[in-house]
Amino acid sequence: MRLLELEINGDRLHVAAPPHWTLLEVLRYELGLTGTKQGCDKGDCGACTVLVDGKPQLSCLMLGSAAQGHAITTIEGLLPAHRAQGGAGADPVQDAFDRCGALQCGFCQPGMMLSAKALLSENPTPTSTDIKHALSGNLCRCTGYTQILEAALLAATKTEEVL
Ligand code: FES
Ligand code: FES
Repeated sequence: MRLLELEINGDRLHVAAPPHWTLLEVLRYELGLTGTKQGCDKGDCGACTVLVDGKPQLSCLMLGSAAQGHAITTIEGLLPAHRAQGGAGADPVQDAFDRCGALQCGFCQPGMMLSAKALLSENPTPTSTDIKHALSGNLCRCTGYTQILEAALLAATKTEEVL
């Protein structure tokens, strides 16, 4: 086991985990943060996407030890961060996905929403093409993507209102 010091959703945590474990495994099996989904486990599906210093990262391809010294955001961190910034209600991206019905089984949603969040942080007024490009690494086996695109566009509108 190796003792890791991680910053997850604004909290500094100490966690012991096998040295070969990925960040995905540490999040799910040591910290209980199961919002980060384990799909292909080899970098193909995007279900395990988290934010590392605000950028999307496949947590199945990153060792837990490599996450030390970086700010990690999982889907569980979006609402608290939104509220801490004075926001009311749900995080704008989560709210938009909810309003647009942009899910069926929901397995892809955490990764989709975090990729959308990262895009909107960098580019609050993305085009449809920008969104398709930003979400191109997140696969959905259910929805057909139309509502997901609509949700990201709606979230962009709401983000603009907040800015
Ligand atoms: S579980 Fe990481 S990309 Fe599929
Ligand atoms: S809603 Fe089922 S994988 Fe996207």
